[in-house]
Amino acid sequence: MANDTFFSTAHESITQAVSQRYAQAVTNGEQMCCPTGYNHEELGKFIPDAVLKASYGCGTPVGLSTVQPGEVVLDIGSGGGIDCFEASRRVGSSGKVIGIDMTDEMLALARTHAPTVATNLGYPISNVDFRKGMADTMPVEADSVDLIISNCVINLAPNKDKVFQEMFRVIRPGGRFTISDIVADQPIPNYMIHDTRKWGDCLSGALTIQAYWGGLRQAGFRGLHQITVIPWRIIDGIHFLSVTLTGYKTLVSSAPMNPTFATFLGPFSKITDEEGRTFQRGNQQQIDEKTFALLSLPSYKGCFSFTAQPVPISEHDSRIVSIKPDNAPCLWEGHFAILMGPFLEGQDDDHHIFYSGDPLEICSKTIKVLSDPSYQPYFGLINRAKESPHADPVICETTSGCC
Ligand SMILES: C[S@@+](CC[C@H](N)C(=O)[O-])C[C@H]1O[C@@H](n2cnc3c(N)ncnc32)[C@H](O)[C@@H]1O
Repeated sequence: MANDTFFSTAHESITQAVSQRYAQAVTNGEQMCCPTGYNHEELGKFIPDAVLKASYGCGTPVGLSTVQPGEVVLDIGSGGGIDCFEASRRVGSSGKVIGIDMTDEMLALARTHAPTVATNLGYPISNVDFRKGMADTMPVEADSVDLIISNCVINLAPNKDKVFQEMFRVIRPGGRFTISDIVADQPIPNYMIHDTRKWGDCLSGALTIQAYWGGLRQAGFRGLHQITVIPWRIIDGIHFLSVTLTGYKTLVSSAPMNPTFATFLGPFSKITDEEGRTFQRGNQQQIDEKTFALLSLPSYKGCFSFTAQPVPISEHDSRIVSIKPDNAPCLWEGHFAILMGPFLEGQDDDHHIFYSGDPLEICSKTIKVLSDPSYQPYFGLINRAKESPHADPVICETTSGCC
């Protein structure tokens, strides 16, 4: 069998198995999936019970808190419609919501309740349009969406690179996404990938964090940043995490810009941004429009100081943040840190280099450093030790980079 034919047959059977899984679940009223943080009491004021019960997500679409009235929101894999209906409330009757799903039974449930939700919100007609379609070929116009949301869906799609490209196509320049999904701390082995039943359980199709972030960047998104990371399950030593992340289709202003100087403020001693430029803490660098647009994204907020003129910042300036490790022995306790901030690379003050999405083993001293509020937004932390380790304390040279 030619390679292309093999993949399209495998993709079709995965898609079919996933769709059947959700059709069955919604028909039987089954509860499914993972950690979410909905306020059911609040949502129950305008969303019917049948929809709330068919909520199969793995996070809350916190991106909806950024929604402005009149915006266009797209929900990929809208299921029974819970997030679309909350989006409908937030965009107001002048806004619009599009829900895409491939499973007829899910679409039927969502469409049945759309008029009731509109009435409960006081709208003359529903502003939610539920469309049948696939995440990797969305029936949505290019550059038409302000915000994409998606809750526990992309892991179920066999061709995620195409989904990411589609997201980038439909979102308008300056638009954003906030999606929740299941990811893994290491590649999923073949015995799971080729078990189609496990796809529907959000396991077999999970990407590593590195591949997920990489696919979104490859598609063109920038400012990728975790919002929450919640450990979900450990299966055969693989850590499955529920993550909520955000990213942007950057808009470079066409207005001429005065020279701008950027100084990286920390807490890392050095970082590489998503275009591969390196910034050392405290060093002032001249930047162009494209870099200014990137570093002005909310994900980089607070990391840089911008000035029109070169104004040196002293290392003692109160805006510079640096967190030094304790001068003490270190204990290896099974901790790993995963860089999930917008940087491709970040170096701390103890010679560790963290690469985006790649777990790095760290000792007790570094856990303390990364637990500082200035570092916390950039890292997911996991512990791979099966039992509490009894490792001996290690004394490291401060320049050795051992811990
Ligand atoms: C885990 S459920 C989540 C539903 C909804 N987002 C929620 O939070 O309740 C996954 C949904 O995505 C849909 N889905 C899965 N893969 C899809 C794909 N490749 N294209 C379109 N829809 C898909 C399924 O039909 C199902 O309704």
